[in-house]
Amino acid sequence: MKHFINLEDIPAKDLRKILIDAKKRKKARKKLNNLESDKGAPLRGKLLIQMFEKSSLRTRLSFYLAIKQLGGSTLTLRPDELHLSKGGESIEDTAKILSNFGNAFMFRTGNDFMLEEFGKYLSIPIINGLSPSSHPTQILSDVFTVEEIKKKAISKLSISWIGDSNNVLNSLIAASTKFSFKLKIGCPKNYQPDQKIINYIKKKRNKVSIFYDPKKAAEGADVIFSDKVISMNDKVNKRKKLNSFKKFTIDKKLMSFAKKDCIFLHCLPRGSEVNDEVFLSKQSKVWHQALNRVHVQKSILLYCFGKLR
Ligand code: CP
Ligand code: NVA
Repeated sequence: MKHFINLEDIPAKDLRKILIDAKKRKKARKKLNNLESDKGAPLRGKLLIQMFEKSSLRTRLSFYLAIKQLGGSTLTLRPDELHLSKGGESIEDTAKILSNFGNAFMFRTGNDFMLEEFGKYLSIPIINGLSPSSHPTQILSDVFTVEEIKKKAISKLSISWIGDSNNVLNSLIAASTKFSFKLKIGCPKNYQPDQKIINYIKKKRNKVSIFYDPKKAAEGADVIFSDKVISMNDKVNKRKKLNSFKKFTIDKKLMSFAKKDCIFLHCLPRGSEVNDEVFLSKQSKVWHQALNRVHVQKSILLYCFGKLR
């Protein structure tokens, strides 16, 4: 069994195997309904326990369908109904119970430490469904979407991120190392990735550049990504932060600096970082992107269970 906590810790060849499996599975179930299982139902009888300390629509729904399509089932726990947060039950004891009752644990948390702690004590796989510092299932799925739409390996494409330096960007940076693609980041100077991330970029010598001018970051892009300026875990002066990002709003003018066939991706939910004209345009592939999470999460689950074909 394997955990899926951060892309940095997973070998590139395993990440590629997950994407290859997702492609095969997606193709093989074209005629099936959402709740019908894949041929062979490889996770028949398995229970995925999900817990969300923060809101979620897409991650919740896509994991629900993912495990169902593999023949298993899911149960969602509310953290405020557990002894863990109210009665002081330890993470170690909670993890022991989760491991005895379930077969995998998908966790969205407001505290990275909790992920590591659960990872230490669980004897079943843990999957990071978003933490303050990363969102690995989202980005792995986004690499899948990019390659599917562009019909090219992502290493041959120029990827841009225009927006906040947050959890989703951190995972995109990790992906740029694992899949070896060029990444241009456009953000205000005061909101660039933190020193730990800059050190990671330097250490891995990957092709990441940071621009304080959004036009420069958009130039020649095959894909432009963005995300909300204010994330769920942000403890900042919201008005001040939103003001600093005004020049970075993604509109038609900014998109015109990218390649003609550039696509726009956004993990959702959205805020003011992109206007409707772009978000609802043909270039925007956000709905397709959201649905692909089901397919990639199935292969992530199989990877965790040691059952990748
Ligand atoms: N993109 C994403 O993770 O969406 P949710 O927060 O709705 O799960
Ligand atoms: N960066 C966003 C992503 C939401 C899916 C957040 O953490 O709120």
